[in-house]
Amino acid sequence: MSGLVLVTGGAGFIGSHLVPKLLSSGFKVRILDPLSAQVHGQVPVDLEWLGGTGIDFIRGDVTVRTDWERALKDVDSIVHLAAETGTGQSMYQVARYNEVNTQATALMLDVLGKIPHQVKRVVLSSSRSIYGEGAYLHPRTQQRVYPSARSAAALAKAQWDPVCAETGDTLDVVATTENDLVSPASIYAATKYAQEDLVRIGCQSMGIGFAIFRLQNVYGERQSLNNPYTGILSIFSTKIRMGSELPLFEDGEESRDFVHVDDVTDALLQGLVVNSSPNTAINVGSGVATSVRHVAEELTRAFGKEPNVVVTGQFRVGDIRHNYADISRLKELLGVQPKISLKEGLQRFADWVLEQPLPEDQLEKANQELRDRKLMN
Ligand SMILES: NC(=O)c1ccc[n+]([C@@H]2O[C@H](COP(=O)([O-])OP(=O)(O)OC[C@H]3O[C@@H](n4cnc5c(N)ncnc54)[C@H](O)[C@@H]3O)[C@@H](O)[C@H]2O)c1
Repeated sequence: MSGLVLVTGGAGFIGSHLVPKLLSSGFKVRILDPLSAQVHGQVPVDLEWLGGTGIDFIRGDVTVRTDWERALKDVDSIVHLAAETGTGQSMYQVARYNEVNTQATALMLDVLGKIPHQVKRVVLSSSRSIYGEGAYLHPRTQQRVYPSARSAAALAKAQWDPVCAETGDTLDVVATTENDLVSPASIYAATKYAQEDLVRIGCQSMGIGFAIFRLQNVYGERQSLNNPYTGILSIFSTKIRMGSELPLFEDGEESRDFVHVDDVTDALLQGLVVNSSPNTAINVGSGVATSVRHVAEELTRAFGKEPNVVVTGQFRVGDIRHNYADISRLKELLGVQPKISLKEGLQRFADWVLEQPLPEDQLEKANQELRDRKLMN
């Protein structure tokens, strides 16, 4: 696979790592991105990498049909990254999330069905959020179970861990595979799963190959420091630089699968170049669960400071407790094995952050928006 790749949302965090890799692998690249103010700030910073040779940059929007028509000219493959990405924000900006994530993906397929084109493969960045809580084991029966979202009442009583609805036993988290139950618990997750269905069915019907990547918590250099609605490590990094305490929700023992953006873009690139189109969904993560407390402390150390965390007991309705990926399919189908350890990745991230202007700490503003809607205590 070679030729011209259209990367939607290519000026964003993941795109900024993928595009240089595509160029050095011999692809030509076109980006379709409006440089949204929520991600890039009113005056975009750190976009020097975009000045690289060979990038055809269209400042445009995936919700606009004519922008797709223009962007798809002579394109051989698409990496569809453009999206609104704030889980909490999606709960009260429902139509906007649906339009940018779901409807725009439908528009892409609609245009592909109507204009002459030469697109042979579509790579989609989906999200682990589609699994909701994901897979757990019942401690006594060892049965694989899928707890539903934790209720606001349970969270208010500090019952953080998912329990079996019948026996009341606390469940043990296990790695979620692509065959496990899909159970979106937020509007964002619902739109990402809708994107998957649209791409799978639309591409199959038009004979276009596809690869759907379910990304875990991606972190690393160039993650937006302006967007308070997503990116826990970016939010923490601003607080660390300001000398503020790091507020840990729940008891701080909730965990995520943190994967460095370099490993993620290796997977996306492989999904594009592998000879036989995957035509399926593939988890991308480190395969390791890390508590938020641990990552907060390690990130602080990467800045050369002593950890200063405070457990707030706060919670957000719809947040999951734990989730980490089974990454065997990633290895089997694409031969990709994540390489960047958490320690190395956090150091790379911290070193980059220190070269950036100190952004405003907007976490409280984002939290207040949730409280106003009774989505946070
Ligand atoms: N970063 C993560 O942890 C993570 C995890 C799971 C899935 N994903 C998915 O990966 C993709 C990229 O995420 P990211 O972290 O790079 O986000 P990002 O916010 O840094 O980048 C998204 C880019 O999309 C652009 N964009 C926004 N609205 C657009 C529109 N209407 N038309 C075209 N472009 C638009 C933004 O300007 C931005 O440059 C998204 O689809 C996201 O859902 C990310």
